[in-house]
Amino acid sequence: MKPLVVANWKMNPASKKEAEDLFEAIKKGLPAQAEVVVCPPFTWLAVVPPQRDGGGLILGAQNCFYEDGGAFTGEVSAEMLKDLGVQYVIIGHSERRKYFGETDEVINKKIKKALGAGLKVIFCIGETEDERNVGKKKEVLEKQVKKGLEDVDNLENINVAYEPVWAIGTGNNCSAEETKESIDVLRKFVSENTRILYGGSVKSKNSGDYIRKAGANGLLVGGASLNPEEFIKIVKSAE
Ligand code: PGA
Repeated sequence: MKPLVVANWKMNPASKKEAEDLFEAIKKGLPAQAEVVVCPPFTWLAVVPPQRDGGGLILGAQNCFYEDGGAFTGEVSAEMLKDLGVQYVIIGHSERRKYFGETDEVINKKIKKALGAGLKVIFCIGETEDERNVGKKKEVLEKQVKKGLEDVDNLENINVAYEPVWAIGTGNNCSAEETKESIDVLRKFVSENTRILYGGSVKSKNSGDYIRKAGANGLLVGGASLNPEEFIKIVKSAE
């Protein structure tokens, strides 16, 4: 299975011009066969070039709502994303769970809606530092994956991203050994055809280990995806 590398720009960059420049810089340095998904904020989805010219980059969004349309102020539907040329959507990111109160039930509804609209899903799962410290990691991962994928029968378009919350944006990346253990837990719920990615302080100096030592099928990259040279190194290390 070809590794999938996903750039999660989060709420960055601040201007349209910066988004275009960042996108161009990534596109220019990309190895020909790489499969790379760039997930900008909603506002830049329509202005970054993949829509006009794919060039090896695939467009993804960072969230979507689970209703088709109507009186849901501030929300964006899966169908709208699809119409714009978006192919992937991140669902269940720990920042959505933490700051926007997304529960496993909400995440499950979003996953179903996104799949129904023909989007591929990057479904994020991960334990917090406290959960890890009290030995609940396995239990938490099992609960999140089970509930998130409840009544989802077609896992073909699902990519699971193992993202330990304590490793996100902290520089404290999870070891390859521990990542492998978590991937093994998650693998029991999805077949070998479903990619399991790793995310959490991925940098070019640790990225290759997740693919080769931990057995991850790709990477979800936050902070480092805003630096094109570093991001391209990460993409190359995953090949
Ligand atoms: P990070 O973020 O690479 O900055 O740790 C990863 C993510 O939140 O997806």
